[in-house]
Amino acid sequence: EAEYDLVVVANRLPVDISISDEGELSWTRSPGGLVTALAPVMQGAAGAWVGWSGAPDLAPDPFDVDDVHLVPVALSESDIELYYEGFANDTLWPLYHDVIEKPTYHRLWWDAYRQVNRRFAEAAAAQAAPGAIVWVHDYQLQLVPALLRELRPDLRIGFFNHIPFPALEIFAQLPWRSQVVHGLLGADLIGFQRTSDAANFVRSVRRFTDLTTRGEVITMTEEDGGRRHVRAAAFPISIDSGHFDDLARSPAVAKRALEIREEVGSPDVLLLGVDRLDYTKGIRHRIKAFGELLQDGRLTVPKVTLIQVASPSRENVGAYQQLREDVELLVGRINGEYGHLGCQPIRYLHHSYPPEEMAALYLAADVMLVTALRDGMNLVAKEYVAARSDERGVLVLSEFTGAADELAGSVFVNPHDIDGMKDRIVSAVEMDYREQRKRMRRLRRRVLADDVEKWSQSFLAVLGAVPQNPVHR
Ligand code: G6P
Repeated sequence: EAEYDLVVVANRLPVDISISDEGELSWTRSPGGLVTALAPVMQGAAGAWVGWSGAPDLAPDPFDVDDVHLVPVALSESDIELYYEGFANDTLWPLYHDVIEKPTYHRLWWDAYRQVNRRFAEAAAAQAAPGAIVWVHDYQLQLVPALLRELRPDLRIGFFNHIPFPALEIFAQLPWRSQVVHGLLGADLIGFQRTSDAANFVRSVRRFTDLTTRGEVITMTEEDGGRRHVRAAAFPISIDSGHFDDLARSPAVAKRALEIREEVGSPDVLLLGVDRLDYTKGIRHRIKAFGELLQDGRLTVPKVTLIQVASPSRENVGAYQQLREDVELLVGRINGEYGHLGCQPIRYLHHSYPPEEMAALYLAADVMLVTALRDGMNLVAKEYVAARSDERGVLVLSEFTGAADELAGSVFVNPHDIDGMKDRIVSAVEMDYREQRKRMRRLRRRVLADDVEKWSQSFLAVLGAVPQNPVHR
């Protein structure tokens, strides 16, 4: 079996699998930025992808989709509750996003996290050819690098963290902080979104291990006395920009964009928010600011409409249920207060949509609101820019996203500062076309040049250049 030269390991497969009552297997593409980012890379490489099917106790035999060998890992109902909803999404997710919500520390969840990480490491070890590259992804699998190195010292192992890595003082809360750091240090290369994330990690290495570090290089002493170097560096992720650009240029999408504007009552200005329904995204802050602008009369209906797409996410986790309640209450209040028959200021959609519909929404929107309180990168911001080949539209972007490091030309906001955000939204709504074009050109140069293929190639080039270990290779 061990025959793949590139093995990706991620919590999710790039597809959601289901089995009909007749035992028929079917699949659809699964949600999330990671999948969007890696699908094009894997298709070129003919590698294997190890991940969860998306359903409890469902792990059919490996199968191939678009030249990628998919290897399902089984998660039981209890694994999903303790490892996925528990440790990954109720401990690590809020902790790594600056404790916006209070993380829960639960020893049973940690045990499940260790067990499931071991299962993923074993599955990857069984797929990788001698000397292969294994690329492990994201906070759900931070122990896999060290577990995998124990099983297969011949491999070159990379890890990429798609979400922020928090400051030392915050990471310090985690009862299992040193185990997590040692888990990651099994990799040869650890990638982060921003240089500040990489620096935060190196600080945690210095504080919670007795290893020596020099800049971004950490020196490990192996059991045999040999030395191994681990690099921690920033590799900001991107999107398949060309694909979004093409999509948005297609006549069908352009036509759909016009239809969308008509369907929402042909407003003079259309604002758009697109997020997973997640408390890190600043949806409450954004809608509050929008509601106050209506109250102040600085924006009025039916001149202005906000479309908010909030795709369902992690619906069994308490903080997500609470967020949904809050957002839906707020939207209902604003629509009740400022709407009339046939006209609602906010069109709220608790759905997810295929890329064609997303491209049409981006093309239809005069102002894109990305107001995350904390976000590793935020690919929606980049998708909006890639879709605007007409060089129109304004991106309002939170300072607290990874994208803010790259997307000069945006209108930057601090989402905690409601008054400041209101002023920025008004200036975006009122911005003339010359200024829009100037900014959008600058944004597009960046997004079209730095696409996801460049991202994965640059990560894999650094990982591939790791010196061969003569004992094992
Ligand atoms: C973020 C994470 C991904 C995750 C995605 C969707 O983008 O970085 O690792 O897959 O959200 O979340 P979910 O919990 O549904 O996989």
